[in-house]
Amino acid sequence: MGNPRTHLANSLHLHSLPLSVADMSEVLTFIESNLDRFRAELYEFLRIPSISAKTEHVEDTRRSAQWLANRMRDAGLEVEIIETPGHPVVLGEWRGAGEAAPTVLVYGHYDVQPPEPLEEWVSPPFEPNERDGRIYARGSADDKGQLYMHIKALEALLTTNGSMPVNVVVLAEGEEEMGSPNLVPFVETNLDRLACDVVLISDTSMFSEELPSLGFSLRGLAYFEIHVSGARSDLHSGEYGGAITNPGNALAHILATLHDKRGRVAIEGFYDDVVEWDSKTRAQIESLPHSDEQYREELGVRQLNGEDGFSTLERLWIRPTCDVNGLLCGYTGEGAKTVLPNHAMAKVSFRLVPNQTDGKVRDLFEKHVQHVTPEGVTVQINELHGGRPWRASVEGRYFEAATQALEEAFGTTPVLMGSGGSIPIVVEFEERLSAPVMLVGFSLPGCNLHAPNEWLPVENFERGIGALALLYQKLAN
Ligand code: BES
Ligand code: MN
Ligand code: MN
Repeated sequence: MGNPRTHLANSLHLHSLPLSVADMSEVLTFIESNLDRFRAELYEFLRIPSISAKTEHVEDTRRSAQWLANRMRDAGLEVEIIETPGHPVVLGEWRGAGEAAPTVLVYGHYDVQPPEPLEEWVSPPFEPNERDGRIYARGSADDKGQLYMHIKALEALLTTNGSMPVNVVVLAEGEEEMGSPNLVPFVETNLDRLACDVVLISDTSMFSEELPSLGFSLRGLAYFEIHVSGARSDLHSGEYGGAITNPGNALAHILATLHDKRGRVAIEGFYDDVVEWDSKTRAQIESLPHSDEQYREELGVRQLNGEDGFSTLERLWIRPTCDVNGLLCGYTGEGAKTVLPNHAMAKVSFRLVPNQTDGKVRDLFEKHVQHVTPEGVTVQINELHGGRPWRASVEGRYFEAATQALEEAFGTTPVLMGSGGSIPIVVEFEERLSAPVMLVGFSLPGCNLHAPNEWLPVENFERGIGALALLYQKLAN
């Protein structure tokens, strides 16, 4: 890790700022001198276990929304907590720049993934712990830490200058990690309030420690549970084995038909809607400083493997996938139990790329499974959630502003990168609000999102706040 106590005002290359934003030095000094408080506040936020998927944490999730709403008020926003059929939305507004100025919609989520397996955490998930320049806690990177950077950037601008050149609406939801089931209806009923010129999201990562990044894509998602059922109950595997189809064998067979030998998804029609990316974008991906060997080493696998004809970054960003996310079947306890299970279940998800849709993938998947299911068992598929893929245009004045802000804050020109993950609301924002979406993320590959020991670099928390303050300032120019 570099020097964690970065002197922002120096590192931000103030000498290179155009005159119009020279007054930013006061803002950056404010950020630097308040960093310890910012971090202490973030730790309070991280201590609230806002696990949206678990009913036992519904009150914690609400407390997290209330805590955030209070801090947004402190920062100078007008804030409302808006109920939904699920977890509430926190909406903060500052419209002091006037109607002629651009309006920025900032989106983030205050909910987090479950922390299990707990025994793998070096320090407990909801007791933030700083080690080696990293903030370890569930939600540090995804997404509380990144969302909070926006609140602190806004606070710095509003406290120091008393105003900003852009109007800002902050929309923080508490259901992203469960597929945002209530957000599209919320957006639809609040179109006027959410009307904006650009959407700004910090919920992705940078390409590497040295390279600030702007996102050009997200994959979509189609997530299913597949249940295979056989006999009325579990059976002695000697007494009955050989006379009926074992649901475990059947499920294994079904799953084995999902890929071919070239690493492609072997479902008929699966690639029909996949857009081949232009050679310019593929060359740009190719030019990024990526090492397969280093990547392999970091992941601890014997070799990398994926779809023939594509590089690792292409496989991650511009190609669709199909993966088993969970399996449940039969006896898995200590020792041997000779049994034919009467039920088997798998969680299977597809990452999608333009122009695939989760609806069509569902139809193709169902048809495929019907076709390959062995005789003698019944199979049922449930859809868990879905989301459409997204590709950005990455051009125009707002992207210019983001490029400049990142360059000034990090001292390096940002790179364009794709993301393998999904933020399903992004396409919906773009279409329903007719505004471009910018992904400006500050976590890193390897930050253990959704895994034990999630972390965020302290340095990125600090620099990111400065970068965002610069960005808000520049979006008006
Ligand atoms: N912030 C992530 C998405 C992400 C992760 C983008 C890594 C880029 C890099 C988001 O919180 C997330 O985890 N999304 C889910 C989908 C959602 C519908 C549960 C995902 O990608 O699995
Ligand atoms: Mn996230
Ligand atoms: Mn997530």
